[in-house]
Amino acid sequence: MKNERSSIQGVSSRVKTSTSIYKKCERKGISISLDDILSNVFDGAGVRVICSYIDDVYRIREMFLGQDDVVLVNEKDFIKHPKTNGYRSLHLIVQLPVFLSNMKKNVVVEVQLRTAAMDFWASLEHELKYKSDNKDPALINELRICSDKAHLLDDEMMGLRDRIIAFNQQLEYAKKRH
Ligand code: GTP
Ligand code: MG
Repeated sequence: MKNERSSIQGVSSRVKTSTSIYKKCERKGISISLDDILSNVFDGAGVRVICSYIDDVYRIREMFLGQDDVVLVNEKDFIKHPKTNGYRSLHLIVQLPVFLSNMKKNVVVEVQLRTAAMDFWASLEHELKYKSDNKDPALINELRICSDKAHLLDDEMMGLRDRIIAFNQQLEYAKKRH
């Protein structure tokens, strides 16, 4: 509301299934005990926030971490430092209180913040990876190039937005002077 536009286009969430937690533990060599799972698996609860522009990602990050009951446990900035395959997103592992009927429980949540363009790439890349284990370097390279193109689009849209804002501000200023 502050910017007279929406910084968030959509939010989705998922809770990891027990099978999926079990598989992750096997893959990462984590023993199947509640203590070990709680101290090693941080994406049991996951929230994905789709932002309009790249700078909205960081604006939402500030607002979210500014809440006094949200504690940042770990952060991975795959926007400033994309993965070699081209994956971009800001990952925050946070701890926050969840109020149950008879108690308050601190819960760890993985929050992924990304733009719609980053989400478009990540969903399709995930699907392609899931469908095939084709490790052809040319294919992997093209996927990364696609991610770079999506990033360029994000950057250009942000530039256009700023030009429009500047134009509107000038118009307002001119109106006030007359
Ligand atoms: P996981 O075992 O997959 O949870 O990885 P991690 O614990 O090393 O955490 P990381 O922050 O690298 O990634 C966590 C999540 O980010 C994944 O479960 C995906 O949702 C997303 N992610 C990370 N890398 C990629 C990628 O290369 N492609 C896509 N599509 N998603 C990714
Ligand atoms: Mg995960």
